[in-house]
Amino acid sequence: MNTVLDTALRLPLFGKGKVRDTYVTGNHLLMIATDRISAFDVVLPTGIPDKGIVLNQLSVFWFGKTYHIMHNHLVESVESQRALAKYTIGKTPLPEWLRGRSMVVLKAERIPVECVVRGYISGSAWAEYKKSGTISGHKAPSGLKESQQLPEPLFTPTTKAQTGHDIPLKPRQLIDLVGEKTARKLEEKSLALYIFARDYAIERGIIIADTKFEFGYYDRELILIDEALTPDSSRFWDAGLYEMGQTQASYDKQPVRDWLVKSRWDKKAAAPALPPAVIEATAERYRDAYYFLTGRKLKNVYS
Ligand SMILES: Nc1ncnc2c1ncn2[C@@H]1O[C@H](COP(=O)(O)OP(=O)(O)OP(=O)(O)O)[C@@H](O)[C@H]1O
Ligand SMILES: [Mg+2]
Repeated sequence: MNTVLDTALRLPLFGKGKVRDTYVTGNHLLMIATDRISAFDVVLPTGIPDKGIVLNQLSVFWFGKTYHIMHNHLVESVESQRALAKYTIGKTPLPEWLRGRSMVVLKAERIPVECVVRGYISGSAWAEYKKSGTISGHKAPSGLKESQQLPEPLFTPTTKAQTGHDIPLKPRQLIDLVGEKTARKLEEKSLALYIFARDYAIERGIIIADTKFEFGYYDRELILIDEALTPDSSRFWDAGLYEMGQTQASYDKQPVRDWLVKSRWDKKAAAPALPPAVIEATAERYRDAYYFLTGRKLKNVYS
């Protein structure tokens, strides 16, 4: 099975992230989800087969499901031969391997804020709470345990740093950055999207502990952009294994993390290549997440 780690299309490059490569196609963007995986903030040398397909298809799935809450940037998921022929490179159709792992989206004026929503206390929020009893500066109820569900989901936006770590934005700072009306809308829509997805996912055995959204303006309308509610933008936990008072296993990346910890990699030097069994176990987790959430088996015609 092919693993797509890098893309080199003869199109103007819009940007390369840890996982996705984005190109400009006409007035639109072509966002390609590769099979790259990061752990402990480092991109690993080994890819996870089909991961990009899962990521792309999950975003497409959620864009459809949440359209009643907010419009989004999706123009078309590149799946059919017809789509390959429609978005050409010069006169050549897009390459076959893009099918399933890429989408054409509206090019929006991005709002430089990561709209984080937390339904459960974990990660950096848990670290802050233990130290100061707050979550992103918000006063939080006392006596919370690690991974506990919060009484209400919290909107904890951050800057979108070009380099280094994102910095939490206080309500006032968010207003200064985007204006009062947009700030209110970002919060309201982020919470509504999270609550919808949380309730949907829990019925299917997955806890979405937290997630982050990005928004942008297109034609003066605020829309949802980037990826949505994927394992890369969210913490997914297995509801069947959930136990409050401890760190939860990551639904998707746990085999990778466990193996890396055992390998005694110092998280600084180049990361080691993953063994085949770890690659396969992880690929299976991503396919499972897709299957449980959508009820559909991942279409393998693309790989
Ligand atoms: N519809 C859109 N219009 C304009 N920009 C968009 C749109 N959708 C996403 N973006 C931007 O494109 C970029 C996608 O980058 P990507 O997520 O691949 O990498 P990154 O955010 O730079 O890094 P990371 O790998 O840490 O996520 C982001 O800056 C995102 O804000
Ligand atoms: Mg990103």
